[in-house]
Order: sequence, then C-alpha cells, then structure tokens
Amino acid sequence: MKLINTLALGAGLGSLLLSTAWAEGLEGKVIGFSQIGSESGWRAAETSVTKAEAEARGIDLKFADAQQKQENQIKAIRGFVAQGVDAILVAPVVATGWDEVLTEAKEASIPVVLLDRGIEAPEDLYLTSVASDQVKEGRVAGEWLIGAVGDKACNVVELQGTVGSSPAINRKQGFEEALAGKANLSIIRSQTGDFTRSKGKEVMEGFIKAEDGGKNICAVYAHNDDMAVGAIQAIKDAGLKPGSDILVVSIDAVPDIFAAMVAGEANATVELTPNMAGPAFDALQAYWDAGTEPAKFIITESKLYTPADDPQGEYDRRKGLGY
Ligand code: AHR
Repeated sequence: MKLINTLALGAGLGSLLLSTAWAEGLEGKVIGFSQIGSESGWRAAETSVTKAEAEARGIDLKFADAQQKQENQIKAIRGFVAQGVDAILVAPVVATGWDEVLTEAKEASIPVVLLDRGIEAPEDLYLTSVASDQVKEGRVAGEWLIGAVGDKACNVVELQGTVGSSPAINRKQGFEEALAGKANLSIIRSQTGDFTRSKGKEVMEGFIKAEDGGKNICAVYAHNDDMAVGAIQAIKDAGLKPGSDILVVSIDAVPDIFAAMVAGEANATVELTPNMAGPAFDALQAYWDAGTEPAKFIITESKLYTPADDPQGEYDRRKGLGY
C-alpha cells in the first residue's frame, strides 16, 4: 500500500485539503472527466484540484473541456464509453438532457459521478453526485443580506448563473426563500450573467442605467464571485462605491472576492470547495474495493465569509491554488 501525500492547500482551509488516502484501489484506473469549461475562477480551481487528486492517486485522468456546450459533453462521454474507461466524472453544464447518454454509460457498466451540479434524470443513471446544497447557498446569502440591511428598504438586483444550470436554478430559489415575507427587501431585476466576469459587468451596467444610475439599487446578489467582481467594476465605473453604496453578496469564495473585501468593495461570499474530486474518488474506491454503494448525494459545506473573517488571510491561503 502507498500513502498519498496530503496536498495541504493552506491552514484553515479544511474543505480545500486534498484527500489523504490509501491509494492502491485507484492506481492505474482510467477515469474520464467531462468538464464544463473555464467560465470562472472557481471552475479553473476545480479543474486543477481534480487533476492533482487524480495524479496523487495514480489515476490516468482523461480530461475533456466542453467549452460550455452540452453537446460537447455528450460527445466526450460517448468517447469515454467507447474507450472503455473505468469511470466517468461529469460536471453537467445544464440540468436536463442527460438520460440517453447516461443510459449508454450504464449499459456499458461504467459508473458515472456527477461533480458540482445536479441533473434532472433517474437516480440510477449515476453512482453518486458530489455537490454543495445550492438552495442552502442562496439561503445563506439571503439571510446575510437580511441581517445586513435590518429594517431599511432595499432593492436587490440579481445576477443569475447559466440558464438551465442547477446552481442558477437552486441559488435563485434559496435566495428567494430567504427573502420571502421580508417586505423591505425586493428583487427588482434579475438576469443571467452566465457565471462570467465580463457578462456580470455588462448586465450590472444595464441594471445601473435602468435604475437611476444605480441610486435605486441597494444590493447585488450574484450567483458566483466572478459575476460579482464584474459588477463591482460596473458600480465603480458609475461613480458609486461597491460594498457601501451598493452591497455585494455572492458565492464561491475565490481569491479575488477576498481581495475585493480587503478593499471594502465586497461584503459576503458563501464558500464552494473546488475539491469535488476527492470525495468522488473516495466513493469510487470504496465501491470498487468493498462494493460499498455511496450515498446518492455527497454534500459539501457552504460556509459564509465576510470582512470579519480575515479576508487578507483567506486571499493569501487561496491564491496560487489554481483559481
Ligand atoms: O457549478 C458551480 C458553479 O459553476 C460555480 O459557483 C461557478 O463559479 C461555476 O462556474
């Protein structure tokens, strides 16, 4: 047996520690990974961490970048099936349209593990899903905002993630659930920014223009940090102060949002660990070694960070980790 080195990514980053594991079970396994693309800093980190996890365990990882297109993911999965890989990891760009290709993988007896996003398909088409509770992420963001504004009237604008993706659907739902019954808080505009910085900026510019140069906006809720960073730039370009004139709350906990907190320009983020692959590989190993069926849903933590949580330290601990 061989003990894999723990790749400690920084003190205090419990959820970012790459797994320490006895690796014999996965040495030499061939695993296909259909990744969405590289739309955000978080996505880049997930790709790096997955590659590092695979390397540390002696896995031959076949990586396919779908460049945001479901059709490319379907092609990649079919390619992995044709190659006869041992397992397939998929980060599904959208929630629907997977039944056929996952049935093909199932018929070839290749276990599929979903990473970071959910799908609407029969549960027997995948072995397990490693993801956060995305409704909870939205709720945590909403509850933070409720606490921050108190009784003050607050018009909120929302930057949604990719249309049809599970985080966009669920983070919207959780945020709306938190705000339900709060008469002083209203979501006055909501539009997709596709999880990218450039789209987040562009959509926020439109919101500002439509809302009296931004004077009618009290807060922006972005489904990821990259869109929040884009929105921060749009707010500054409009001559307003992000973080005070317009509050900024988002999800991911990437280094750039901590840099924005240090500058007083962001107010809160909900952490999403980029290490989905560690629990996925652990589940596959237990499945192959002992026939252990993993839990259908392996849920990662959703911790809230604000400027009170040493943003400079959090930035230092994360930068250079593939974000
Ligand atoms: O599915 C996870 C989301 O996808 C992350 O929050 C976002 O940054 C990414 O693009």
